[in-house]
Amino acid sequence: MNAGLVVRNIGELWTTHHLPPVRGAAMNDVTVLKDAFIAVNNGLIVGFGSGSGDAFVGPVTEIRDACRMVLTPGLVDGHTHLVHAGSREHEFALKLQGVPYLEILKRGGGILSTVAATRAASFDELYDQARKSLLRMLAFGVTTVEAKSGYGLEPKSERKILKVIEKLNETQAVTLIPTAMGAHAIPAEYAFDREGYVATVLADLETIRLDGLAESVDVFCEAGVFTVSETKRILMRAKELGFAIRVHADEIVSTGGAGLAAELGCASADHLMAINDKDILALAGSDTVANLLPGTSFYLGHDYAPARRLIAANIAVGIASDYNPGSCPSENFQFTLQLAANQMKMTPSEVLTAATINPGYHLGKSDRIGSIAIGKDADFVLFDVPNFDYVLYHFGVNLVVDVYKKGRRVIADGRLVKE
Ligand code: NIG
Ligand code: FE
Repeated sequence: MNAGLVVRNIGELWTTHHLPPVRGAAMNDVTVLKDAFIAVNNGLIVGFGSGSGDAFVGPVTEIRDACRMVLTPGLVDGHTHLVHAGSREHEFALKLQGVPYLEILKRGGGILSTVAATRAASFDELYDQARKSLLRMLAFGVTTVEAKSGYGLEPKSERKILKVIEKLNETQAVTLIPTAMGAHAIPAEYAFDREGYVATVLADLETIRLDGLAESVDVFCEAGVFTVSETKRILMRAKELGFAIRVHADEIVSTGGAGLAAELGCASADHLMAINDKDILALAGSDTVANLLPGTSFYLGHDYAPARRLIAANIAVGIASDYNPGSCPSENFQFTLQLAANQMKMTPSEVLTAATINPGYHLGKSDRIGSIAIGKDADFVLFDVPNFDYVLYHFGVNLVVDVYKKGRRVIADGRLVKE
C-alpha cells in the first residue's frame, strides 16, 4: 500500500500493545522497535515496524528522515484545569510561609480567587489565555488534553468555560475532552447554603448534557470541600444522564473518595496522595484508572501518590499534569513524566503506558489514540534523545522536536507550524 507519509530511520519506536485498561505488571511490558518506520495515510497509521518501510513508499509518498530520534504515541494529558483567568503567584509566598492549601481556600483565596477572576473575564480573554497554554502543552508532546470547567461555579460562567473548550477544539490541533466540574468548590454566595449549591450543580448538569458541552463530570471530594455523600449524589445523577464520571479523591485527606470511585464505576480517581489500603483494594477490583498527578505533589510539597503499591495491587495507573493556577502552574507534561519516574519510582515503560493508553482509555478514546497501532490516528511525537530512558533523565527542558497530529506535522523543530 502506498502511504502519504513514511517517517523512517527512527532510533527507537516505543508503544504499548496491551488492551486497556493496562494494569499492574502489564504496564511494564511495552513494544520497543529499533531502526523503525511509521507509515501514515489520510491521518491514520497504516504501517509501522523495524526497517525502512519501503513497501509503503510510492511515487508521491513524502519521506521523512527521523535522524535516529525516539518516537512515541502522542502524549495524553488526562487531567487539566486549562481554562481560567489570571494567576496566583501572590499565594506562593503564603505557601512558602507554610499556610496549608485548604487554609488558603478557607480564607476565600485559592480556587475562589481564580473563580472571581474567571467570572470577570470575557470569553475572548479566557480563550486567548487557554490557547497559549494549550500551545505550550502541544510543544511538550501532548496531542490530547482533558479540560475541566470549575472556575465559574455558577451556570453562566461554567458555560462560558465549556464554550471556550469547545472553540479551542474547533480551532486548535490538540483534541480537548471537556469535563464539567461545577462541583470544584462551594462559591462564596452559597457558603451558608451548601444544599442550594448542590441543587444548582445538579440542575445545571441537565443543560450541559442537552447542549453536549461535556463528556464527563468531576467532583472535588475533599475535607472542607464536597463530602462523600454530596459527591455520590452528583456523580450518580451525572451517570444517569450518560456522562462518564471522575473524582478528585484523597488528595490531602483520606475521605474514602477512591472507594466511592470504584463503587460508582468512575472512569478515573484522581490524585490519591492520601489513599488508604481499603480503597486500594476497592480500586483493584474495578476498571477505574488511578490517575496520579505528581506535579501537584511537587508544587504543594505534599507526599507523592503510592504508585508502586497501586501497580503492585494490579491497578491501571495514569499520570496527568493537573495544570491549574493554584496547585500545579506548569504545562510541562514531560516534567510530570520525569516526576513519575524520579519520585514515584515508575519505570520508563510504566510511565509511557500511564501517559498514553491508560489516559486514552479513561477518556473513552483508546480506540483512536494512545498507542501506535494500525487504523489509529497518526498522533505521534519525536524526541531528540538517544533512547526513551533519556526522556525521564534529562529533566525540566523540552526534548520534543516534532509533533504529528492526525498525520499532520503541527510542531516542527520545536515550533508551531502555521496553517
Ligand atoms: O486538582 N484540587 C482541586 N483542584 C485543583 C486545584 C485547583 C486550584 O487550586 O485552583 C487540583 O489540584
Ligand atoms: Fe485537578
